[in-house]
Amino acid sequence: MSTSTTGPAAPTSPASQTVGIIGAGNIGSTVARLAVDAGHRVVIANSRGPETLADLVADLGENARAATAAEAAQAGDLVVVTVPLKAYRELPAEQLAGKVVLDTNNYYPDRDGHIAELDDHSATTSELVARHLAGASVVKVFNNIFFIALAALSKPAGDPDRAALPIFGDDDDAKATATRFLDGLGYDAVDGGPLARSWRAENGRPVYVFPYAKDGDVATPVPADAATVRSLLEAAELDDPAQQPKTLS
Ligand SMILES: NC(=O)c1ccc[n+]([C@@H]2O[C@H](COP(=O)([O-])OP(=O)(O)OC[C@H]3O[C@@H](n4cnc5c(N)ncnc54)[C@H](OP(=O)(O)O)[C@@H]3O)[C@@H](O)[C@H]2O)c1
Repeated sequence: MSTSTTGPAAPTSPASQTVGIIGAGNIGSTVARLAVDAGHRVVIANSRGPETLADLVADLGENARAATAAEAAQAGDLVVVTVPLKAYRELPAEQLAGKVVLDTNNYYPDRDGHIAELDDHSATTSELVARHLAGASVVKVFNNIFFIALAALSKPAGDPDRAALPIFGDDDDAKATATRFLDGLGYDAVDGGPLARSWRAENGRPVYVFPYAKDGDVATPVPADAATVRSLLEAAELDDPAQQPKTLS
């Protein structure tokens, strides 16, 4: 048996689930690949319709299929929402009620337009998503890592180079579900607290993107472990001028 610690994590508990993914871009397609490699089934959607995802689902293999956003929401045992923040009100709230929803959103005013509650820090991006998805249990995750690093840093549990990702949520059971899902995908989870604290992992904060980037190059991934992630979350300061949002795609 191979003892290699590179490449995708082997499937672990829980047993295979159906993962709905709304958004099939950089992060959606990366999470889809990790989920399929972890033994899950994937139902993935974009804004233009399932027929436009034929190449992606062919590449993902027999455990992936394309659907509408409402169908992906309905089908998922858990659902990843990974659309530009400006589209969050289009997420299918009715079909997502009662589900664990993993939210990857970030706020880029140039792309999303200005949102007063985010500009004045009276809400976090995931609180806005959670308000729209009343009835769902929203967990913030995957927002602080560049998609190339997310694809590259997956490691089996126990690997000394395993990376960790912060998670935030208001429901402990949903966070436990997210933690198991991340484990299967090859990542440790660090519980950063409720959604109201998720600003600590937003654009410009110390844990955002660059801990997983060698010498500041986001295309050269390097793991950040759980202790590092924990201490970087604590280092976040709301009014620190050195921690203001940076322009990334
Ligand atoms: N890029 C990264 O490395 C990264 C890392 C962490 C977090 N994030 C955040 O995660 C989110 C997604 O980022 P991304 O880079 O993956 O974006 P992206 O490459 O631009 O992909 C966005 C996806 O969302 C779909 N979409 C847009 N509106 C939709 C709607 N109303 N219903 C269903 N699907 C819709 C798009 O479909 P169409 O193409 O059909 O319009 C596309 O598949 C953003 O908030 C981003 O800031 C990105």
